[in-house]
Amino acid sequence: MNISLHTKSGYGSAADMRGSRKKAVILLAAGQGKRLLSSLPKVLHPLAGKRVIDYPIALAKSLHPSWIIAVIPPGKNAIYTHLRTIYPDVKIAVQKHPKGTGHAVMQAAALLRRFHGDVLILYGDVPLLRRSSIEAFYDDYLRSGSKLAMMTTRLEDPSGYGRIVRNAGGIFEEIVEEQDADVFTKAIQEVNCGIYWGEADSLFSGLKELKADNAQKEYYLTDLPRLLLRRGEQVGTWLVKDPNEILGINTRQQLAEAHSVLFKRSAEHWLAQGVTLVDPKTSYIEPTVHLAKDCVVEPACYLRGHTSIGQGTHVGTGSVIDDCWIGEEVMIHPYSVLRESRIDAHAQVGPFAHLRPGSHLKPHSKIGNFVEMKKTIFGKNAKANHLSYLGDTVVHDDANIGAGTITCNYDGTSKWKTTIGKRAFIGSNSSLVAPIKIGQNAVVGAGSVITKNVPNNALAIAREKQIDIPNWKSGRPKKRK
Ligand code: UD1
Ligand code: MG
Repeated sequence: MNISLHTKSGYGSAADMRGSRKKAVILLAAGQGKRLLSSLPKVLHPLAGKRVIDYPIALAKSLHPSWIIAVIPPGKNAIYTHLRTIYPDVKIAVQKHPKGTGHAVMQAAALLRRFHGDVLILYGDVPLLRRSSIEAFYDDYLRSGSKLAMMTTRLEDPSGYGRIVRNAGGIFEEIVEEQDADVFTKAIQEVNCGIYWGEADSLFSGLKELKADNAQKEYYLTDLPRLLLRRGEQVGTWLVKDPNEILGINTRQQLAEAHSVLFKRSAEHWLAQGVTLVDPKTSYIEPTVHLAKDCVVEPACYLRGHTSIGQGTHVGTGSVIDDCWIGEEVMIHPYSVLRESRIDAHAQVGPFAHLRPGSHLKPHSKIGNFVEMKKTIFGKNAKANHLSYLGDTVVHDDANIGAGTITCNYDGTSKWKTTIGKRAFIGSNSSLVAPIKIGQNAVVGAGSVITKNVPNNALAIAREKQIDIPNWKSGRPKKRK
């Protein structure tokens, strides 16, 4: 819905206004984050298939700003490498010493000297903010004509956060940090989320006046609203209803909470898209996964990465599926582990199947319990129902792989290929020593160790002949009494 607004530059819809103004995003990520007790910087911790910092970057990108600047610690550290490799368009500002949030924004300001527009300040360790909230906040900021606006929320337990102090009329006066707050201020439940929209000129000129005269001897960004008010400029606040959105990742506990919020969101999303989740609480579906309608996901499944699952496919309990493309009406029985593979329509998999990268099950094929595959193409209607390893193999249509068949694809140095022809039948407990080709309609006798190619239509038996020794029992020495 487009709402007509009286905005900074006249009348227009909210979306038009948002789109037409120049924007820059500053992402603060130079803080120390010691409480995770980790050798990995906190913004690089894995979170539902991405890194923590990838979430605010995706949010920033969705606003199509002219600039995204990340403020990071000095040196060619892991954060630097992550940003340079994945986001070449994100600019980097270095904060040599973490002297506070105000000081961090100053580092980015140097790059934005010629920028005149709206600046959004985000934290690199706050991953759950919704795009709809940032847009609503932006609309409110534009509508109000404020020079600076901060996002606030109400918390049952506000400890640790900067408090929003208002006068008797409810008008915003200042932010007071926990360390600088008296008992009355500490009782305030409305807190500063650390997310701001501001006009570049006011913001950057205000930053120059910040002083580090507080309990932590830091340049607080939170002093800026008070400072601008004193100059007679308008400062606004916007309250986000769901406090989960501003959850910061400072501890392992918060990292776990962020996971559960993201999984809950994605479960709710897929339920609304016509997917059955038998137990949404234990459906761990990463935000990068796609499910078509009428999929059924049984309890305790983990669907990861760029997995896409087709209409009507059933995922059995305890399955882990990572970066797979799965067609329609596929049956995945419980406890299957599938990675970087493709499964075509109407195939059946598991229980306890293991597809390793590069496997492709063609339509109506079937692999059963304790079947492992790697880099294997498995033809239409082909079957490997029990206990097999197929590696670097092409199995043509309608072939039948007996229980316990193993492709011996590795000689200790190199990997070799196996080809199994159309309608070939491999007897149980056979070893196919690669490189090897089994012809069309060929049959391999059970228990064979096949080391030479088998021609089309041939029966190959490669095992010791059975020897029958007559009267064996009677010939045995008698037990001594
Ligand atoms: C800050 C706010 C507080 C707010 C809270 C919300 C200030 C002074 N206080 O407090 O009002 O309630 O966030 O979470 O702003 N950072 C740098 N360089 C620094 C310091 C911090 O880049 O020198 C970055 C951190 O990496 C982090 C963000 O800024 O992403 C916030 O820093 P943090 O130390 O967590 O601020 P808080 O003390 O939590
Ligand atoms: Mg913090």
